[in-house]
Amino acid sequence: MDDLRDKYIGLIADAADEAAIEDLRVQAVGKKGEIALKMRELGKMTPEERQVMGPKLNALKDEINSALSAKKTSLADAALEERLRTEWLDVTLPGRGRRQGSIHPISQVTEEVSAIFADMGFAVAEGPQIETDWYNFDALNIPGHHPARAEMDTFYTHRAEGDNRPPHVLRTHTSPVQIRSMEKQGAPIRIICPGRVYRADYDQTHTPMFHQVEGLAIDKDISMANLKWVLEEFFTAFFGTEVKTRFRASHFPFTEPSAEVDIQCKWENGSVKVGEGDDWLEVLGSGMVHPKVLKAGGIDPDVYQGFAFGIGIDRLAMLKYGIPDLRAFFDADLRWLRHYGFASLDQPTLHGGLTR
Ligand code: DAH
Repeated sequence: MDDLRDKYIGLIADAADEAAIEDLRVQAVGKKGEIALKMRELGKMTPEERQVMGPKLNALKDEINSALSAKKTSLADAALEERLRTEWLDVTLPGRGRRQGSIHPISQVTEEVSAIFADMGFAVAEGPQIETDWYNFDALNIPGHHPARAEMDTFYTHRAEGDNRPPHVLRTHTSPVQIRSMEKQGAPIRIICPGRVYRADYDQTHTPMFHQVEGLAIDKDISMANLKWVLEEFFTAFFGTEVKTRFRASHFPFTEPSAEVDIQCKWENGSVKVGEGDDWLEVLGSGMVHPKVLKAGGIDPDVYQGFAFGIGIDRLAMLKYGIPDLRAFFDADLRWLRHYGFASLDQPTLHGGLTR
């Protein structure tokens, strides 16, 4: 019995986990375990022997049972200790800061412009930045020999050697989206098309990539008066103050008649204030869509007519938020972005207010 005791006390001390403890319990004190087998032998003994061996066996059984449960507790304690050690966390450390990004003023202004025109029933349309010669020029009544082509400092893509088709261009304005939208949805139509445009030009007021928003409204009874109302409504909402406009006769191949539009402003120690004073600042080109352009877009000019306009978004952003140098928009300077950027939750809506 001493051998049995030593054997199990030793095995229990060495058990590595709860499963091993359970195996030992079955082997030692289970129904068919070694102690039970010994108990059965009691029947063959004399009453005197039984009186000595019975209590001894019971005592051994108790001893093994309590060794098992003590070991089980100590294994559980060790596991807990190990978890506490590895999952330790110093709650007194200072928090780790997270850098927050900001919304670029161009993105913000694009959202503002879209919100204002959406309120007047204009949908947002988009087109490709790499355009065919047809959509960027011919369809807009700018034929190959037209001086407007040369004036636009166009970026051309390469064609493979021997491929004589006209090369694709980086669109020089958002006007080609007029044609694509007319083709896609026909008349009536009321859209704006914001997006990137490209011209080979670089100085304080020009960057080779910049942003425009095109407007197009076509129906059976649209006139220049609607154009003027829409633009004044837009500028007043955008600048948050009543803004007068001045229309000057001009020329664009894709509109007839055409007008350049100025907004009322005042110069004050080198910076400009919109909506006061009696100076004028040119901000956009516009006009009644040329019949040839309607035809190119698949719309019958004898039935439909409409207006179009194109505004520089970067220019609008500079005017509204007092940003002096256009080139800084595209320098990706984090200090500039933190200063002029917008919080990501400042979503412009008409009812929420457009300015910060
Ligand atoms: N596409 C012209 C430009 O980039 C701007 C413009 C002028 C657009 C008159 C128009 C328009 O839709 O009617 O300079």
